[in-house]
Amino acid sequence: MSSATTLVTLDVNGNEAQVPAALHDTMLTVLRDGLQLTAAKRGCNQGVCGACTISIDGVPMRACLSLAHACEHAEVRTLEGLQGGREMRALQAAFARSGAFQCGFCTAGMLVAAHALLQRDPAPDEQAVRKALSGNLCRCTGYVKIIEAVQHAARSLQPEGVAS
Ligand code: FES
Ligand code: FES
Repeated sequence: MSSATTLVTLDVNGNEAQVPAALHDTMLTVLRDGLQLTAAKRGCNQGVCGACTISIDGVPMRACLSLAHACEHAEVRTLEGLQGGREMRALQAAFARSGAFQCGFCTAGMLVAAHALLQRDPAPDEQAVRKALSGNLCRCTGYVKIIEAVQHAARSLQPEGVAS
């Protein structure tokens, strides 16, 4: 079986990056080991936990299941690249205010998934938040504070700026 490594050209957080990658290397490997972007976490490494969630063309995806060579020509965004934006700032503030994390291992993936939700639905109800985060597992919080935090962030971004 060939494991030839070739350069893959990626758009990561708005920057062009050329990274050596074997055909079987995933975005998680390339981000963490090649580009030292470590916000996306290696949890299960088999598509179950969501800790590795990144945005690919605006859609939250499992970095551990996304082949790097398949991501050429795509817009790859990680938490590092999203965190200057308005929605992400609101989400991070709400997570901190609500105590929506304990160990924090799931948090980057949760934030990226929640960010994608707010981009397509600025005022999600509880069910919409639950559905958007249903692929992201948390062993610590029981989810209630995470869901509340996403809704608080959404409200804080509304024109009237209702922050609870
Ligand atoms: S590390 Fe990718 S889904 Fe768990
Ligand atoms: S805060 Fe520990 S896994 Fe979510």
